Amino acid sequence: MQYNVIVIGSGPGGYVAAIRCAQLGFKTAIVEKYKTLGGTCLNVGCIPSKALLDSSEHFINAKQHFKEHGIEIPEPKLNLGQMIKRKGEVVKANVDGIAFLMKKNKIDVHTGVGSFVDKNTIKVTAEDGKETTLTTEKVIIATGSKPTPLPFAPFDKKRIISSTEALELKELPKHLIVIGGGVIGMELGSVFARVGSKVTVVEFLDSLIPTMDGTMGKELLKVAKKLGIESYLGHKVTSVESKGDEVTVKAEGKDGKSIELKGDYCLVSIGRRPYTDGLGLDKIGIETVKGQIQVDDHLKTKVDNVYAIGDVVRGAMLAHKAEEEGVYVAETMAGQKPHVHYNLIPGVVYTWPEVASVGYTEEQLKTQGKAYKVGNFPYKALGRARASGDTDGLVKILADKTTDEILGVHIIGARAADMIAAGVTAMEFRASAEDVSRMSHAHPTYMEAVKEACLAATANRPIHM
Ligand code: FAD
Ligand code: NAI
Repeated sequence: MQYNVIVIGSGPGGYVAAIRCAQLGFKTAIVEKYKTLGGTCLNVGCIPSKALLDSSEHFINAKQHFKEHGIEIPEPKLNLGQMIKRKGEVVKANVDGIAFLMKKNKIDVHTGVGSFVDKNTIKVTAEDGKETTLTTEKVIIATGSKPTPLPFAPFDKKRIISSTEALELKELPKHLIVIGGGVIGMELGSVFARVGSKVTVVEFLDSLIPTMDGTMGKELLKVAKKLGIESYLGHKVTSVESKGDEVTVKAEGKDGKSIELKGDYCLVSIGRRPYTDGLGLDKIGIETVKGQIQVDDHLKTKVDNVYAIGDVVRGAMLAHKAEEEGVYVAETMAGQKPHVHYNLIPGVVYTWPEVASVGYTEEQLKTQGKAYKVGNFPYKALGRARASGDTDGLVKILADKTTDEILGVHIIGARAADMIAAGVTAMEFRASAEDVSRMSHAHPTYMEAVKEACLAATANRPIHM
């Protein structure tokens, strides 16, 4: 079978690349080792985690907040099996959607492990061992990533688990110990804390979600505490042992004091690593550095017709980053001049309240020695937030001290995930804080906090504070 483009891996990088290739007139195939399309994101990542986050949010609202709204119901009971079943249905609807899109765009789907025979030949090995050989002019590698284990405590997938197993638990953990207070740790930690597990987070650095603006980590620590999540920051895990149905985690704080935690499950969420097993990269002379496939500014590997995108290359491990890169490569192959603005790829943590950021953090601006202004506006001063009862959080705007150009938008608060798109738009058009502060924002909305924070940044004159 002869193709213009073969994409290996059907996650958000791969399937979007394949669709854009097909739209541009390339005869395209996609190779996926699993039976369902959609990769990590749809099967064991973004979508199932958000399904459980939404379900657990309904649960805690029914349990803690309905009453204050004047809704009286009997004490809600958790049906974890139903929650997980619904999550499975949400995943199925999404992965079926990708299969439909492949058909619609006349993209051939080959199920099996794809590996290079040479730079124009891909062998697909199905689960039953059957091999198919495909030839192609160009290849896009989009093989994604896998969870990183602790070097001294590999995943046993029963008690020492990764996000993949956490999304499928058959019983509610009594005490879930989470190692790594990053995105997965805080999202899945929230799910289980909301539905009744005791949750303890052990984080190596001094802040939760440490790659985001420091203010976000501080605020998230407060809301995590309100939810009952206990956090040990600045703690290095020294051992994890699982015996029967008990897991013991030992860690050492910066002050030299040790802690010992006993739980029934330990979620290890200390990052993910690029995945290239079985690809046969050696057959075409591509090497990896720390697991990552090396690419140039156009996402091309050192082999002329082979590109790589998404989690398997440098940069943020995010679905929408992978998607942008998929489109970029397809359009580059078609002779177009696309662009990915990496600094304006937003990051979101789907806790409640949500955390969302785009652009530079205050810490980055300090390191760069850039002169900047800060404007903050708290949710508790917003009419909309008081009406809904979501008064935790704030909007933080960072702007250039001289030109007033917005350099960073950081939000922790209700619906931050959707609001951050306005920050991206403003920054793509290089808006100043004053530009945004002079635009009409519907009242009452959470977005008014962005306008007010811009007023605070541009001239220190918020109206409602
Ligand atoms: P993947 O989605 O990892 O897809 C790679 C695919 O390649 C897989 O299907 C794999 O089976 C296949 N493959 C690998 N090797 C071969 C081979 N040799 N032959 C054939 N097929 C192969 N990101 C967000 O932006 N928002 C979120 O809310 C979010 N939530 C997440 C929650 C969790 C729990 C996790 C784990 C991740 C989350 N992410 C989120 C990250 C997101 O899932 C990844 O950044 C994204 O899936 C990367 O896309 P990708 O296309 O590069 O790779
Ligand atoms: P992460 O990089 O977000 O967080 C890992 C955390 O673990 C960091 O805070 C780090 O300091 C800490 N850590 C590392 N080693 C440690 C150790 N030995 N002991 C204690 N703490 C340690 O990685 P995470 O949460 O595993 O997620 C993986 C990737 O998946 C991320 O890159 C993220 O972008 C993506 N993802 C995105 C989501 C989203 O966009 N909402 C949701 C979930 C995952």
